[in-house]
Amino acid sequence: MSQDGFIRIFDTTLRDGEQTPGVSLTPQQKLEIAKQLDKLGVDTIEAGFPITSSGEVESVKLIAKAGLNAEICGLARVEKKDIDLAIDCGVSCIHTFIATSDTHLQYKLKITREEALQKAVEAVEYIKSHGLTVEFSAEDATRSDPEFLIKIFKAVVDAGVDRIDIPDTVGIATPAKIAELVKLVKAHCNIPISLHCHNDFGLAVANTLAGIEAGATQAHLTINGIGERAGNAALEEVVMALHCLYGKKTKINTKLIYETSRMVSRIMGIVVQPNKAIVGENAFGHESGIHTHGVLSHPLTYEPFDPALVGRRRWLQAGKHAGTHGIRAQLEELGIYPTDEQIKEIVRKVKELGDKGKRVSDADLLAIASTTCEKVKEEERIVKLLDLGVITGINVVPTASVKLEIDGKIYVTAETGVGPVDSAMKAIQKITDNLANIRLKEYRLEAITGGSDALADVLIKVEDKDGNIAAARATGEDIVVASVDAMIEGINKILLRRRLTKL
Ligand code: KIV
Ligand code: ZN
Repeated sequence: MSQDGFIRIFDTTLRDGEQTPGVSLTPQQKLEIAKQLDKLGVDTIEAGFPITSSGEVESVKLIAKAGLNAEICGLARVEKKDIDLAIDCGVSCIHTFIATSDTHLQYKLKITREEALQKAVEAVEYIKSHGLTVEFSAEDATRSDPEFLIKIFKAVVDAGVDRIDIPDTVGIATPAKIAELVKLVKAHCNIPISLHCHNDFGLAVANTLAGIEAGATQAHLTINGIGERAGNAALEEVVMALHCLYGKKTKINTKLIYETSRMVSRIMGIVVQPNKAIVGENAFGHESGIHTHGVLSHPLTYEPFDPALVGRRRWLQAGKHAGTHGIRAQLEELGIYPTDEQIKEIVRKVKELGDKGKRVSDADLLAIASTTCEKVKEEERIVKLLDLGVITGINVVPTASVKLEIDGKIYVTAETGVGPVDSAMKAIQKITDNLANIRLKEYRLEAITGGSDALADVLIKVEDKDGNIAAARATGEDIVVASVDAMIEGINKILLRRRLTKL
């Protein structure tokens, strides 16, 4: 805990997280994420490892001078050139490290334990002489001789270090082992203890929590658990477990967790697995009839906490496990109110599709409902398509121009894309982005009849920034027109719903 009783969150998304194989960010992208982490309320942002490249230096400098509330930290080996470069970046904290396990000392660094200890002490003294906060990590601590580990930690404490960190570098610790190690270190060093757990055995979160229970007061975490190899302990999981299960406080504004996860996933290009705790697509999704009935009667029956706590909404999925209550609720969300007879028929068709191994999307459900129920009464459209033009071919950049009328005002724009549909969708989104902030979440195209004049059946799902979802469908001989019609329909549905809820 920091002095105020809060567990400190040391975010390393932009350092260890960026070391995820295949990930490399521009300084601007790193700054964008740093600003979001700051809004989220992390205590420290490890902005990067300056010695690795000139782009990294630029990134750390940019973040250090952005005027954020969080402590901005740069990573440095216990080498003067690393430390000087980090200092030049304008950070207020340096995280310095050297490996302490015999495996690393012998095969990687090729130095003795005594040499490692001396380098660590000199580095800490050097950083302190520049007036910066310093955190020291004993890399591969969990495979180090505990006696030597304590010796080096005590030496850096005497040298003036501010925090010491225990990295489980290759993720081999168990919760019991981490707890034991934290207690041992705590018995010898009267200084804040941090943990840095990797997820090679899927234990990073459990190990971090066990270490905190044993007395550590800071955790190194990454958004979505990204990081070297199998990643680091996931911030969202550790924080929510601390708040909900361990009765501990952090300064994280949990309501921003989901949007932060989405942003990191988008910028880093790393998809979050659907069943990932807290931020995975399915974390608050329900399909089975028993579960949907349960959550509709009382959400706590099948949810550990209100999804709004992490900036999310629950959603229901039609499928072979679904029941009448869930499907009715889902349809009502889409603005469809079937009769008892109609709902029975819809559920039967949904189960039939599910039994064929099909995932029943909102768009499918909408398609089934619209063929089963009478056509849903159309409200006055807020967004109207006036004109649409596309250019496509070989050796031309596919381009679409659209003219929309929104609430009586005319908007015209053009966009390019990978093809005519993509360009048209982008052009619509360009106009509606500022007004409605609605994005395309799912797109499916099917041909209803056989030849080149086949009818195109487009099913789409759109979502606004508040998580309101609408599905829409359009059919026509022209794929681009059908896609645009479906998109406009989806946007109208969300706008109408928003307007109705405001009334
Ligand atoms: O995993 C690790 O040991 C590290 C150190 C730099 C702390 O990332
Ligand atoms: Zn690491």
